[in-house]
Amino acid sequence: MDTQETSQAQIQTEYIKACKLLLEQQAKRQGRQLTYHISTFGCQMNFKDSEKLAGILEQMGYVETDTEDADLVLLNTCTVRENANQKVYGHLGMLKSYKKRNPDMLVALCGCMMQEPSVVTYLSEHYRFIDLIFGTHNIYKLAQLLYTRLESGSPVVDLWEDAKEIVEDLPSVRKYSFKSGVNIMFGCNNFCSYCIVPYVRGRERSREPEDIIREIEQMVSEGVVEVMLLGQNVNSYGKTLSQPISFAELLRRVERIEGLKRIRFMTSHPKDLSDELIAVMRDSKKICRHLHLPVQSGSTRLLERMNRRYTKDSYLQLVEKLRREIPDLSLTTDIIVGFPGETEADFEDTIDVVRRAGYDSAYTFLYSKRTGTPAASMEDQVPESVAKERFQRLLKVVAEVSASRTERLVGEVAEVLVEGRSDQDAAMLTGRLSNNLLVHFPESEDLIGRFCNVRLDEAKGFYYLGTRMTK
Ligand code: 5AD
Ligand code: SF4
Repeated sequence: MDTQETSQAQIQTEYIKACKLLLEQQAKRQGRQLTYHISTFGCQMNFKDSEKLAGILEQMGYVETDTEDADLVLLNTCTVRENANQKVYGHLGMLKSYKKRNPDMLVALCGCMMQEPSVVTYLSEHYRFIDLIFGTHNIYKLAQLLYTRLESGSPVVDLWEDAKEIVEDLPSVRKYSFKSGVNIMFGCNNFCSYCIVPYVRGRERSREPEDIIREIEQMVSEGVVEVMLLGQNVNSYGKTLSQPISFAELLRRVERIEGLKRIRFMTSHPKDLSDELIAVMRDSKKICRHLHLPVQSGSTRLLERMNRRYTKDSYLQLVEKLRREIPDLSLTTDIIVGFPGETEADFEDTIDVVRRAGYDSAYTFLYSKRTGTPAASMEDQVPESVAKERFQRLLKVVAEVSASRTERLVGEVAEVLVEGRSDQDAAMLTGRLSNNLLVHFPESEDLIGRFCNVRLDEAKGFYYLGTRMTK
């Protein structure tokens, strides 16, 4: 850790203490503990950021509550598609009424949507009750910004166009005691023509491998057995470090951490997936048998317009190589339907790739026009009705393909990490297989956070029903 980082973490620790003092007075006045709630939209990166933000708030003395009727509400926003933005406006309507009843309530917004100047202008004109706005690059400053808001009594807006530094060693809370996400890099340099991420998350920056290893070792000493290494494009990890290292090499080092049992990562860009990485995955005892490999489209013509830098054939060859080297690998993907210029023939190429790649599951999205991206000004936008009709057809094929994939493991016994009670049936536990699929099985709560063997009795599309085997 260099001295600059130490001092930034120390500065923020001082602000946390200062906020704590101010908030204690407020809590005394109100005769109760102050509560906070973070609503997170979007991807794993945002969820990870929210854990860091929660860590800061808890050190100030706030206690978490599960409703937005809280003393401090933070919306960690996403802007990858228009419907993500719409959701945030929906929440703001509700927050306004809560704040009427509790005038001391603080409303804060952060995340990707705040990195768009037009959004912030709109918010400050139409939602004047917002107390704090910050972006993706300065989340570590939450305590400082909150302190400024508390002291000045006026709204605070702090937005940076670019990231200045990676700040290490800030507090964080974990949703699960036994598994955790770990940022290995931030930002993206790929500029896929539909995507707003490079504009709102900035250029690619990797954390030093030593910092990553140290953080994971610390987590493992606290009981974490599974980590998910997070980055928009993990396959290009380490390229911009002063001493460059490959993602495959980072994985080798993470693998050596004693006590760590499972390693996952996301997201992999197909253009950067190296043979070295495939070999490391193949030979690893800890890296899970799952790869998220977004294809976006099966049409070479559209892939070019999307600036993806691979073709239908090269993608399928990569899948073939992966299947050959790691036969038990589960593959998942992201697909966009209705990208500008998509013809029926392009769409059929996508369907063809879904069938040939044999995805275990696929996240499917209707193309959403993002202002400022090259695709937004492409002329041949696809009519919504056409895109929606294709989307429905795609869903059917994805369901069919993934059902036949999950079916093939029925009857087998597999090791799962038990994550908690099943959402659908409180009498059941939910465990995650190495290949990322879930299995629900009847057992008692004391297994949560532990590994056990489960027989996969019945495939239910995206998950299984099973029975624990005690040998
Ligand atoms: N419209 C629809 N889907 C998008 N994605 C990114 N940008 C857009 C957009 N403008 C999808 C991609 C990406 C996933 C995280 O979100 O499939 O992989
Ligand atoms: Fe967006 Fe492409 Fe970067 Fe993924 S790789 S975040 S889709 S620009």
